[in-house]
Amino acid sequence: MTRLVFLGPPGAGKGTQAKQFSVLCAVPHISTGDILRSAVSQGTELGKKAQLYMNAGELVPDVLILDLIRERLSSPDVSPGWLLDGFPRNVEQAIFLDTLLEEIGQPFECVVNLDVPDEVLVSRLVQRGLDEGRADDTEGTIRNRLEVYRQRTEPLIDFYRSRQQLVSIDGNQPIEVVTAELNKIVS
Ligand code: AP5
Repeated sequence: MTRLVFLGPPGAGKGTQAKQFSVLCAVPHISTGDILRSAVSQGTELGKKAQLYMNAGELVPDVLILDLIRERLSSPDVSPGWLLDGFPRNVEQAIFLDTLLEEIGQPFECVVNLDVPDEVLVSRLVQRGLDEGRADDTEGTIRNRLEVYRQRTEPLIDFYRSRQQLVSIDGNQPIEVVTAELNKIVS
């Protein structure tokens, strides 16, 4: 049974590592960013409401996110486990997750925190913006995403550390080295 939460600033490699792990452990990779981007590209009501926040590098309001997570974690395909990427993003979401997991009887193993210096994050994301054209990968928006991360998401490091659920990995290493460290920790 694999249930992990990936935490870290924008560009730390949460998605990259979670995608690989998802294949390795045969459990779904649940990325709130991917779910929201798909809603935006399909032009759904959720997508229309979320787009402005995402393009500005702000968090999408909890009221749009929490039901989505409840529904996703209640789906039958997550019974062998899951990898959460990009959720929780603030203390309110973390408390919601605790309550939800208790309700549905799915305790998680640990929170993997990927640590990467800001300038490396900015250069990775600027490069991705050039390569893939993701709307929020422009330098101004990237800097705001980092600021929002510091204010809203970083407090989760202490939140989970104080509960001895946090494992930190140096994410400023080649992708395969980070994967190998992750493997050691969770196997
Ligand atoms: P989201 O999609 O979650 O974006 P993010 O946190 O900014 O994460 P990224 O996807 O940019 O980074 P990552 O850590 O996954 O790194 P990745 O592996 O992609 O959220 C987008 C927006 O949606 C938010 O701003 C917000 O508006 C909204 N949102 C999402 N969830 C929300 C929530 N719960 N509540 C409210 N709003 C929410 O890698 C980045 C790049 O670096 C890639 O090009 C990759 O190839 C490269 N790379 C990765 N690892 C390495 C490495 N080790 N060495 C070199 N390059 C690497």
